[in-house]
Amino acid sequence: MNSMTTVPTDVLARTVALACRAPSYHNSQPWQWIANRDGLDLFLDPSRLVQTDLNERQALISCGAVLDHLRVAMAAAGWRAHIDRLPDSKNSEHLASISFTEMTVVSDGDRRRAEAIVKRRTDRLPLGPVMDWAGFETALRSRLDDTMALVDVVSDADRSELVEATYLTNVLRFYDTNDFEALHRWTAPFEASEGIPYDSLVSAAEGERVDVGRKFLPTHHPERRPQVPNDFSTILVISAHEHTRRDTLGCGETLSTVLLEATAAGLASCTLTHVTELSVTRHLIERVTGRAFPQVLARIGCAPENEHFPPPTPRRSLADVLTIKP
Ligand SMILES: Cc1cc2nc3c(=O)[nH]c(=O)nc-3n(C[C@H](O)[C@H](O)[C@H](O)COP(=O)(O)O)c2cc1C
Repeated sequence: MNSMTTVPTDVLARTVALACRAPSYHNSQPWQWIANRDGLDLFLDPSRLVQTDLNERQALISCGAVLDHLRVAMAAAGWRAHIDRLPDSKNSEHLASISFTEMTVVSDGDRRRAEAIVKRRTDRLPLGPVMDWAGFETALRSRLDDTMALVDVVSDADRSELVEATYLTNVLRFYDTNDFEALHRWTAPFEASEGIPYDSLVSAAEGERVDVGRKFLPTHHPERRPQVPNDFSTILVISAHEHTRRDTLGCGETLSTVLLEATAAGLASCTLTHVTELSVTRHLIERVTGRAFPQVLARIGCAPENEHFPPPTPRRSLADVLTIKP
């Protein structure tokens, strides 16, 4: 292994900016980075927690995704990341300390994955089927690290359980003012740097065509993607080994791998946690996978080619999320 080298600050700043394209719960971007001579530190930013995220689970998954995006972005820039997770037993918000060694070769795969960061977006419309699922799954599994999290594919026979869990979530949340306020707060179009913009959400009629999806406050778009009448996506469930902060972070890192591999393969994706947030529905998902700690799902499918996409969702400015220490 090469000895540790200081990464130029401009490289760190560029790659952190790219990593922050990672998905996050309601686009809350609950992270803070600190760059220093030894590398980077990642912190969970408690001031950015969504009010329904009582045990910080959604924030930890989001931070896991940004951590893995950072690893991917640095690899494309020629730097291998060495990640020490939860390095400070006295500070549970300190999620990772990362040092870097220079790589001798940047592969085409490294570049493709970093390009996927820019191309990826959450697609909430119905998706067409993945034609060669077996081929995609084999490629994906070769990139996954089972020690980080467990990934299960939901069979066609079990999909009805997810539909049932979606229905139950909607019923349980119907009178949940806390959830309503959170959705309102994070989808209202008053902020340009956070939250989910109107164009990225779906109308009531579009939402009806997706059997497993979160019910946001409905928008009023003319109906889009009429050629895909229903959702034919394949759904993956990512489960933690244990109910620990480290394993929840690992679910976020695994989510990042799933989404970037899907994007690099030309597929569309949508992250979902509506059915893992409430214990009643989480138990239904546990029954499907046989795993004790399901944390996050992803719908993977095909979007029609040459379709008009909404603009990328906004992000906070780099100065808001990165502190550079001398
Ligand atoms: C932990 C987590 C949970 C999420 N849950 C959902 C969900 O239930 N439904 C949904 O449509 N999107 C969900 N998302 C996607 C985010 O809303 C999305 O990443 C964010 O708005 C940024 O948009 P982008 O992914 O298009 O860049 C989730 C993302 C994360 C990381």
